[in-house]
Amino acid sequence: MKVATHHLRCTECATVIQNDAVSSNFRCPLCNGLYEVLYSWSEGPTSPESRLPNPSALRWLWQERRSSTMAVDQSGVWRFRDLLPIVDDLEKVVTLREGNTPLYDLPRCAKAAGIDWLLAKHQGMNPTGSFKDTGMTAALSVAAQRGFEWVACASTGNTSAAMAAYAARAGLRSIVFIPEGKIAWGKLSQSMDYGALTIQLKTDFDGCVKILGELVQKFPIYLLNSVNPYRLEGQKTPAFEMVEQMDWQVPEHIVVPGGNLANSAALAKGFSEMFQLGLIPRRPKISIIQAEGANPLYRWFIDSNREMKPVTADTRATAIRIGNPASWRKAAKAIDELGGWCEQASEQEIALAKAEIGAEGIGCEPASAVTLAGLKKLVALGKITPEERVVLILTGHTLKDSAYTIDYHRNELFTDAENAQLSQAERIQHAALRKAPIVLEADPSLVLRTLESHMNQPQPA
Ligand code: F0G
Repeated sequence: MKVATHHLRCTECATVIQNDAVSSNFRCPLCNGLYEVLYSWSEGPTSPESRLPNPSALRWLWQERRSSTMAVDQSGVWRFRDLLPIVDDLEKVVTLREGNTPLYDLPRCAKAAGIDWLLAKHQGMNPTGSFKDTGMTAALSVAAQRGFEWVACASTGNTSAAMAAYAARAGLRSIVFIPEGKIAWGKLSQSMDYGALTIQLKTDFDGCVKILGELVQKFPIYLLNSVNPYRLEGQKTPAFEMVEQMDWQVPEHIVVPGGNLANSAALAKGFSEMFQLGLIPRRPKISIIQAEGANPLYRWFIDSNREMKPVTADTRATAIRIGNPASWRKAAKAIDELGGWCEQASEQEIALAKAEIGAEGIGCEPASAVTLAGLKKLVALGKITPEERVVLILTGHTLKDSAYTIDYHRNELFTDAENAQLSQAERIQHAALRKAPIVLEADPSLVLRTLESHMNQPQPA
């Protein structure tokens, strides 16, 4: 079945090109800008020949597909394929049944942040444990359809895990460039497990991007970093799924972690398209949170000249250890168009937020926890009011970086100097959350005595 109808438009100079005319680095040859996928209905009034089913028909169709046995219908990305017609042949879609991720309520985190109601869309519940799967199914399907043999990405770990898995499913060969010693073991193990050629470069993520950018111009390798606009087509679908899960109500505020800054832009595109098609009456605000040590967008946001200056990134939230984000203009546009803010979170704030999300029985990786840390700040600043409905985008599964979690609970994550900077109140908060394992002799009475002492302690509120 032929369903593809799209063009690519440069987000800087607005030049529109045929979708197969794009260069291998996905940059506009005129201005070096990044592309976005454009459909006939993306903006402005829809023409008769491009008319889509009406909003209620789309909602019905998307719901109906949930009970189908077809792989593309079981995918939480391709279930919405009417709004991402990027592959000609649905038989060629590469899917691991991604998406379909839960929306959890976080009552105790809401209380900690000072708001009435807080939800988390847990994108870490995807097949490879991160939100990257929703984008990878889209872009890798395009790569497979276009006949590429090799795909590649530079990554802080999650993109590479997702790419390796989807490439393996499609029978393509994949090359991963990761910064040596700066990604979580769980993620490194995934790219090996899924059979990628894994290259650890003695540089940071930004250095890996640079090298790969040169390679794709010389070899027929399909680039799967988020400069590839098809990634964002898949990554916009959690916006659809989220409002569907909320019975088509729109939250007031979405809070997203910011690294290379494509995901926030993808979600904004999803909300904007739904708004354009009359599926939702308004768009939520989108706020982006960065780690203090990897905060170029935050610096741009507070700079009166709005200048983007790359930084040398350093944070224990290795997924977002990025100093020169490729998609910063797209993210900036999302904040400006939908409203919202940019905030930063310190290492201690991220660790506390991660433990709080864990203590709700949900858990996430450190980069995802910046959302809660940033939310607390936005509430304290009065940017988000207590009655607003907020959804945090949790981007990665807690098992991605178990070393971080173990170090935190054993109180081995921070240096003494860092711990000395904490206030008394913060120390108490951390101490209440830390659950280091207790090592005991295998002596029943000792075990009993230890348990008694714990059982006599009140459960924290
Ligand atoms: N959260 C997690 C868990 C991530 O892995 C990433 C990015 C982000 C947030 C930031 O998303 O880049 O769209 O702003 N990880 C990339 C990677 C860079 O290579 O896995 P972004």
